[in-house]
Amino acid sequence: MTSLSTSFSSSRILVIGGGRGIGAALAARLRAEGADVHVSTRDGRTGLRLDLGDEASIAAALDRVGELDHVVMTGSDPHDAPVTELDRDAVVRAFDAKVIGPMLVAKHAAPLLRPGGSLLLFSGVVGWRPAPSSVVKGTTNGAVAFAVTHLAAELAPVRVNAVSPGVVDSGAWDRLGAGKPEFLARAAERTLVRRHGDLDDVVDAAVWLLGARYVTGEVVHVEGGSRLLA
Ligand SMILES: NC(=O)c1ccc[n+]([C@@H]2O[C@H](COP(=O)([O-])OP(=O)(O)OC[C@H]3O[C@@H](n4cnc5c(N)ncnc54)[C@H](OP(=O)(O)O)[C@@H]3O)[C@@H](O)[C@H]2O)c1
Repeated sequence: MTSLSTSFSSSRILVIGGGRGIGAALAARLRAEGADVHVSTRDGRTGLRLDLGDEASIAAALDRVGELDHVVMTGSDPHDAPVTELDRDAVVRAFDAKVIGPMLVAKHAAPLLRPGGSLLLFSGVVGWRPAPSSVVKGTTNGAVAFAVTHLAAELAPVRVNAVSPGVVDSGAWDRLGAGKPEFLARAAERTLVRRHGDLDDVVDAAVWLLGARYVTGEVVHVEGGSRLLA
């Protein structure tokens, strides 16, 4: 675990999508750092329901949580399909989870943020690595990078940043079953550091960004230099 100069002991933080994966690991780290962490899930199993595709649920959850220092959004509902097989509803769900939902979270969270507060979005390396079947994932992740600049300019002095992970063994890839080790090995080859990411790599960057009071409108790439490879 990285040692941090920032104290989160009096911070109230909402982690949207914190029920599993990177969000859950970040919520656990922030709790260990002393923060008062609220975690929302789509089904409300954490006691707080928030669906990024449902503005009423966004407004209700934020109203319930009240004043906040930081809101982290790790939602992702990917639609990895070839262009000729795109399904409109799935495209919309993907944009809801990564782009439209976070904008609406910004809308409802902005009045609740305390001085020094921030929003933290999640992009992803596919935004910078065009490939077949990645048009939706790539475009949503790219849109996050633009969204943080616009949100940062409009909501200032609230800071708005994003982490852009590479392939991280967060649990999300367990869906590949027996194919997961080969997928992770291939992902490691497609980096400059010859490894795939682990949860601490991303959590370290996210925690740093939450406390980085002179950083806004930025995307921090945590992907081993992957986007620099042809
Ligand atoms: N893991 C990687 O290799 C990788 C690579 C690049 C980028 N990223 C990005 O990093 C972030 C976290 O990734 P992860 O690996 O932790 O993903 P994950 O394990 O697949 O988790 C996805 C999360 O998104 C939430 N979610 C999906 N649709 C939602 C919606 N409509 N409203 C609210 N929440 C929704 C899920 O919530 P429920 O639990 O409630 O269903 C879940 O917590 C994502 O933005 C992802 O795109 C990850």
